[in-house]
Amino acid sequence: MRNMNLRKLPFLALVLGVLLHFEVVADGMRDTVVAAMEASFEAKKQATMDRLDQDETQTLCTQHAAGILPSAVAERIMTLNRATIRPPPDGQYLGDWKGGELIAQTGTGFQSSDDPTKPAGGNCYACHELSGSEIAFGTIGPSLRYYGKVRGTSPTTLAAAWAKLYNSNAHMPCSNMPRFGHRGILTDQQLKDLMALLFDPASPVNQ
Ligand code: HEC
Repeated sequence: MRNMNLRKLPFLALVLGVLLHFEVVADGMRDTVVAAMEASFEAKKQATMDRLDQDETQTLCTQHAAGILPSAVAERIMTLNRATIRPPPDGQYLGDWKGGELIAQTGTGFQSSDDPTKPAGGNCYACHELSGSEIAFGTIGPSLRYYGKVRGTSPTTLAAAWAKLYNSNAHMPCSNMPRFGHRGILTDQQLKDLMALLFDPASPVNQ
């Protein structure tokens, strides 16, 4: 056994060398891309240059964008993002589905051309199917049709959905879905209204 392991050593060293080489190349490319972005963007109204700053989650996701996320990195990202989740202070998860539908339909907010005094939208339809009547939806995310009807509204289910909306990376590292609560994109009340859109039996999602 011992001999066999020793014979594999040069091969393992080669594999490690190749992996390290790619890491270095990827890091070099990252600097080039960041420099190009910094040179081509300019601050405009609320869209300031700090938009280009990545937090630890985004940095790790960029570093590993081309390959499989190592499990230790995935764990780190989930731990970081789970720690940010704040349940609604009054313990009420469900708001008004009509407000939620409006937020799901709204794709404005935080762009230089948007009015910063107006609440931002969630743009959910850009990635998800929700109600049956809206036929223009994106498919980057899974269909959310009949979300509450299928899952019910147990406290665990509601808390899990709230966590998803609050910070998508808490249970899916490097998710494409924005971290709506954690990044202050949507308020607690907006998140509650979206929860009602997903779970209220009267919501068009569940019709
Ligand atoms: C840029 C695309 C994008 C946007 C915008 C987006 N999502 Fe998602 N969403 C995803 C993707 C991709 C997944 C699947 C991967 C994951 O779980 O993170 C997902 C997963 C989910 C899930 C979990 C689905 C399940 O199987 O339980 C819910 C709930 C959800 N999104 C709700 C929303 C709501 C509500 C909004 C609007 C406030 C929204 N999403 C906006 C991309 C998006």
